[in-house]
Amino acid sequence: MRKIGILTSGGDAPGMNACIRGAVRAALVNHLEIFGIRWGYSGLIRGDIVSLDRRAATNIIYQGGTILGTARSEEFRTKEGRAKAIKMLQDTGIEGLILIGGDGTFRGGTLLSQECGVSIVGIPGTIDNDCYGTDYTIGFDTAINTALEAIDRIRDTATAHDRLFFVEVMGRHTGFIALESGIAGGAEEFLIPEVPMSIDELSRRLEKNFKEGKRSAIVVVAETEQPGESFHIAQEVKDKTGFDSRVCILGHIQRGGAPSARDRVLASRLGTAAVQALIDGKGGYMVGEINREIAYTPLKDTWEKKKALHSGLTDLLKVLSD
Ligand code: F6P
Repeated sequence: MRKIGILTSGGDAPGMNACIRGAVRAALVNHLEIFGIRWGYSGLIRGDIVSLDRRAATNIIYQGGTILGTARSEEFRTKEGRAKAIKMLQDTGIEGLILIGGDGTFRGGTLLSQECGVSIVGIPGTIDNDCYGTDYTIGFDTAINTALEAIDRIRDTATAHDRLFFVEVMGRHTGFIALESGIAGGAEEFLIPEVPMSIDELSRRLEKNFKEGKRSAIVVVAETEQPGESFHIAQEVKDKTGFDSRVCILGHIQRGGAPSARDRVLASRLGTAAVQALIDGKGGYMVGEINREIAYTPLKDTWEKKKALHSGLTDLLKVLSD
């Protein structure tokens, strides 16, 4: 193998740049030529491909976002779109491709690896932490710390006004961000898909707590299909209990910012591990970290299998928020 490519796809995540840096350094140390594909699969289809040298990865370890740009490509979902991408890979002579992204990226990557002879290795990069085959995805640690900072600030104003707050965090159908930022922020209640709670039950629990002397509370809500659902939830709770509340949607703030130390270390490690996997002929896998060891998971499993919330953490909710 002499030429490899790297792209970032789907939602950006803090640490993607540290990961690109790790992969560039590892490629050059191993005398491989490395190309950056800009704007994810869309850029690959267009042939937006640039050579990356050592300088390209200078001073990017601390930057959020991704220097390569990212996108969600509708065209890549089609066989015709992927055929254009394959041609671009062939024209450039790229024999190995590193994909940094989440489940959508790996879905596309699985098809691409079936349809062309290029070796493909995935790296989990998404704030959602919803990739099977790794304890943590790149960007999750930064995102929960960003959410935590917001929750702490809301706690100040909630306490000052004796108010109930609903804080909606990201997570795309999963409760990883809500669970960990909520536990760290001492949230009173959690609305997350993996541990369902009806509005009736939530209202009963809040009423009980307020009767027992609580004067303010924070409910952490994992976003649903439609971001902003918390406004409806707050209204329903008001209809049942009479409690007035405020809603705060954290949104894309959770995606930006300098990556945490933990994300930079994870990203650097996985970036270099992906290059090594290509050299070792381990195409078709995602490199992740499980119990602090590098783990290889078939790309298909990363999106077909569902990663569960840590039961040790969901058990905590029964005690901490009671
Ligand atoms: O997958 C990352 C994520 O931030 C999700 O948490 C969120 O649901 C989604 O992306 C938002 O996507 P977009 O940036 O396209 O609005």
